[in-house]
Amino acid sequence: MSNYSINSLEQYFKVYRRSINKPKKFWGKIAENNFTWYQKWDKVVEFDMEKAEFTWFKNARLNITKNCIDRHLANKGDKHAIIFEPNNPEEPSRYYTYSELYTEVSRMANVLLGQGVQKGDRVCIYLPMIPELVFSVLACARIGAIHSVVFAGFSANALSTRINDSTCKLLITADGGFRGAKTIDLKRIADEALMRSPGIEKVLVVKRTHQDIPMTAGRDMWLQPLLDEADVTSKAAVMDAEDPLFILYTSGSTGKPKGMVHTTAGYMVFTAYTFKNIFNYQPDDIYWCTADIGWITGHSYTIYGPLLNGATTVLFEGIPSYPTHSRFWEVIQKHGVNQFYTAPTAIRSLAKEKIEFIQNFRLESLKVIGSVGEPINEEAWHWYNDHVGNKRCPLVDTWWQTETGGIVISAIPFVTPTKPTYASLPFPGIKPVLMDELRNEIVKNQQIGNLCIEYPWPGIARTIWGDHQRYIDTYFTKFPGKYFSGDGALRDEVGYYRITGRVDDVIIVSGHNLGTAPIEDAINEHQTVAESAVVGFPHDIKGNALYGFVVLKETGLWRDRNNLVKEINQLISDQIGAIARLDKVQFVSGLPKTRSGKIMRRILRNIASGELTDFGDITTLVNPEIVEEIKEGRL
Ligand code: PRX
Repeated sequence: MSNYSINSLEQYFKVYRRSINKPKKFWGKIAENNFTWYQKWDKVVEFDMEKAEFTWFKNARLNITKNCIDRHLANKGDKHAIIFEPNNPEEPSRYYTYSELYTEVSRMANVLLGQGVQKGDRVCIYLPMIPELVFSVLACARIGAIHSVVFAGFSANALSTRINDSTCKLLITADGGFRGAKTIDLKRIADEALMRSPGIEKVLVVKRTHQDIPMTAGRDMWLQPLLDEADVTSKAAVMDAEDPLFILYTSGSTGKPKGMVHTTAGYMVFTAYTFKNIFNYQPDDIYWCTADIGWITGHSYTIYGPLLNGATTVLFEGIPSYPTHSRFWEVIQKHGVNQFYTAPTAIRSLAKEKIEFIQNFRLESLKVIGSVGEPINEEAWHWYNDHVGNKRCPLVDTWWQTETGGIVISAIPFVTPTKPTYASLPFPGIKPVLMDELRNEIVKNQQIGNLCIEYPWPGIARTIWGDHQRYIDTYFTKFPGKYFSGDGALRDEVGYYRITGRVDDVIIVSGHNLGTAPIEDAINEHQTVAESAVVGFPHDIKGNALYGFVVLKETGLWRDRNNLVKEINQLISDQIGAIARLDKVQFVSGLPKTRSGKIMRRILRNIASGELTDFGDITTLVNPEIVEEIKEGRL
């Protein structure tokens, strides 16, 4: 691929300047030289930041799976596209070449068509990390259906909310899933969800755990017999550049989850180009991203980015601690992984274990290691750099979001010198800017501001499914003319960015975004609870953990404290998922509130974090005395 790789710092600056000064020319060239199109575009980009309208590669026609699969068949048909590494190390790994991927995706696409799925229909995918998950995603893209993958750790309620929001008509799930020593009853959870999601007409079920499950006649079908009968070739639907490719839900600070919509051409160009450069992918490399496909990282950098580059991508079903804390290192050694991309929370959990878990493994194959999902603290950075990267692999700390589609701030390995805890420099095409609360641009170094981006890039989300106004209000209103990320950041003397964390009520727990409002709603469902407030507090492994302040309708009801906490956490698990359970629950007689009735979360955050001295100005509270009480009772 010409004009595609960035190989020196000097070249980076040149490319970066070009991308900012002449973005149309820059992205046009990349799109022109590196992809297969049915029809080229009339215009590279048209946009309106205030209305949050973005059109990239206007009127172009393409199919992303042609670019992920078909075009590699001539020269790379026998190359491994996917290496599947099961949860249980005793189960053999499975290898799929690009030719086999073509066959599998074609069969799945034909099954979907056979079940009446049409272009533009929404298909919900609720599967563990097994090859059928990748085939399903690509099969949707093949026929122009919009995939909505829901993380298999989410509860029935969360699944049903997502299915209903985007009116999916077909669900692909499995009998169950393996996760470490546990088995997750996926079909049972799906059945429960479907009681509240009557729009689902058909359910295709993958056999993974072989457990007994009920099948609803007329609705549920085992997938395998349908695949066995399906044609092994398929035509790729002709898609418009701006046709939606997928919907992926992310938590907001208020209200229901936001179905972020990504479209076809821009997402393709952006994920492919960022993947190539940020992981320095070379033709024979084996690449492994540990993220679940239920999150954007799995979409962009387990499936689309790697396959668009004809890479070999490892799909891992398991968890870092099963059967031992050596599992990651064992997989790297077994497959000779060259690029390894994971989350700080995984690194922190492994760093606290005995060094023997990593010492006996050969990790020489590694060339680049990456981090994503939350700020990586200095200690974790050094452990990762020293013990995994062996001080010789560049560590790319990649900052991005579900909304950005792909990585927007990151070092480029062997090009940008890295600096612990700094995501470093913007990727070409990205123009970050830090804003203060008065909407002035911050020009001083080392001053924390609201991280915004000034110009659109091809991978930017196009809307929130069914609610464009919410998209405008959330991202484009606070700082007019700019995309507001919801993160805080500072810049150093060299221009490196350091992400300091969320500035809204989203809390990142073990790399998962959690909005406080839905958790509070779940708590408030308990019959004894009057109201509640959830805040984050620092946690050694998870980055942040959740602290709930709970007001009961009648005092004295919490005599059976432990039981009450259990019930509250059960409600949270049922409504959202186990990832949102509270680490600490403090029962209080009231919450600090302003005269307008707003909870002053800043105070609660301080108390939860053990910062008990400086509460700033609390004179605007209607009940300042409550602060002392809550402080006294801190857990
Ligand atoms: O707060 C930032 C944090 O994760 C948020 C985005 O979460 P999500 O949409 O789930 O996507 C996660 C994977 C891209 C951001 O707003 N975040 C992500 N990467 C980093 C990060 N914070 C600091 N450093 C990072 N490298």
